[in-house]
Amino acid sequence: MSTNINTLVTKKMNFGTKRAMASYAVWALISFAVLSLGSCRYAEDEDSARNLFKLWQKEYEVQYDSYLQAEEKFHVFWDNIKYINNLNKEYSGETEFALNHFAAMTTKEFKQKILMPKRQPPVFDESRYIRDRLGRDIPDSFDWVEKGRVTPVKDQGDVGTCWAFSAVENIEGQWIAAGQKMTNLSVEQVVECDSNVDHSGNSTHADCGVFGGWPYLAYQYVMKAGGMETGEDYSYCCGLGGKPGTCSICPAAGYNWTLCGDPTWFCNMTQSCGAKINPKKFVPGLKVVDWKAIDEDENTIAEQMMTIGPLSVAMDATLLQHYHKGVFDPIFCSKTALDHAVLLVGWGVEKDLFSTKPYWRVKNSWGAKWGENGYFRMLRGSGICGINTAVTTAVLQKP
Ligand SMILES: *[C@@H]1O[C@H](CO)[C@@H](O)[C@H](O)[C@H]1NC(C)=O
Ligand SMILES: *[C@@H]1O[C@H](CO)[C@@H](O)[C@H](O)[C@H]1NC(C)=O
Ligand SMILES: *[C@@H]1O[C@H](CO)[C@@H](O)[C@H](O)[C@H]1NC(C)=O
Ligand SMILES: *[C@@H]1O[C@H](CO)[C@@H](O)[C@H](O)[C@H]1NC(C)=O
Repeated sequence: MSTNINTLVTKKMNFGTKRAMASYAVWALISFAVLSLGSCRYAEDEDSARNLFKLWQKEYEVQYDSYLQAEEKFHVFWDNIKYINNLNKEYSGETEFALNHFAAMTTKEFKQKILMPKRQPPVFDESRYIRDRLGRDIPDSFDWVEKGRVTPVKDQGDVGTCWAFSAVENIEGQWIAAGQKMTNLSVEQVVECDSNVDHSGNSTHADCGVFGGWPYLAYQYVMKAGGMETGEDYSYCCGLGGKPGTCSICPAAGYNWTLCGDPTWFCNMTQSCGAKINPKKFVPGLKVVDWKAIDEDENTIAEQMMTIGPLSVAMDATLLQHYHKGVFDPIFCSKTALDHAVLLVGWGVEKDLFSTKPYWRVKNSWGAKWGENGYFRMLRGSGICGINTAVTTAVLQKP
């Protein structure tokens, strides 16, 4: 059983692409070290696809209840193989796509389960915004991960809780900025307890637990709650999909059915906020006292980020389902229909003989196996996918 997914992939270089020559050496070095290859094609015939499906199930520990369900999923997987091959052709040399843990999900299922309903960027009172240019030199590259301000990558599982991860990870960065040690804070607490709604502005925004929410509303929840438990004390359980430690959470008190839709069909009160939250376990001294939004100008965002720390952002993420690596500059992407929240941690410039591409480095909450060790990169400077339209940070009480 020493086969791995690599051996079933037809490796085929795209010599016609401008970056192919430059990347050939690197490709040769890493092609046996990584699980799923980028500059390559998956074989599309049924036998190969079935073999790949088996290996993929093993790799991601996926089991199906019935033969019928497995067959249905296999056909989605097979379609995705073809779709990923097409994406790799279309974006060749720029962004690579591969089979990851979303490989047996249709685009529709991915949008429904993992992403949030699309919403316009929220518009805040002018006093909320930090718009100052500090006049600092913006270096070519910058990375809060290297500087120890970012906790390990987490996995939201198969529910729409990205907004809570994004907000909590910003707070984690602010906590370290306040001179404290790196601490995982409780995403589950926010998912279970927060039902904030914002009726101001053009479109209404609400926190809906496993069905989506907004980081700026989550900061306000933490302000009201008076603190946060650690991620170890109040552990993540709502997205585990039946794995050990799974919980059946009830909607937070105040959950708005009109805005959020029907809550989960089954929930267990003793596995939910009311029974679990314990203010005695709040991390001593950690208090969110305010929150801010940052101007849309990406140079301002970079400058402010150097001062503030990792920032929460939202974007249109439909095309990220099969992302594997590279700087992503999607052909179709909305700047005003946001459906995913993540954490901006740095930036850089990718240079080769033919082009110079500035990018943002972004922390995702889809596990460390996804993308570039849990991170991805987006083109910087053109408001790609609305990544600059909902940039926010919590403000913590000074130590
Ligand atoms: C934070 O969470 C990560 C991954 O879930 C874990 O590996 C790490 O040990 C945790 N850190 C602390 C300080 O508990
Ligand atoms: C509301 O929407 C209209 C039309 O899309 C736009 O012109 C206006 O600026 C928006 N106002 C706010 C507060 O978002
Ligand atoms: C839920 O949201 C709707 C739409 O914004 C609003 O009219 C309604 O009053 C809210 N319900 C509750 C219980 O807050
Ligand atoms: C609710 O959760 C508690 C604690 O996890 C468990 O003991 C109980 O059996 C659950 N109730 C139901 C109906 O599943």
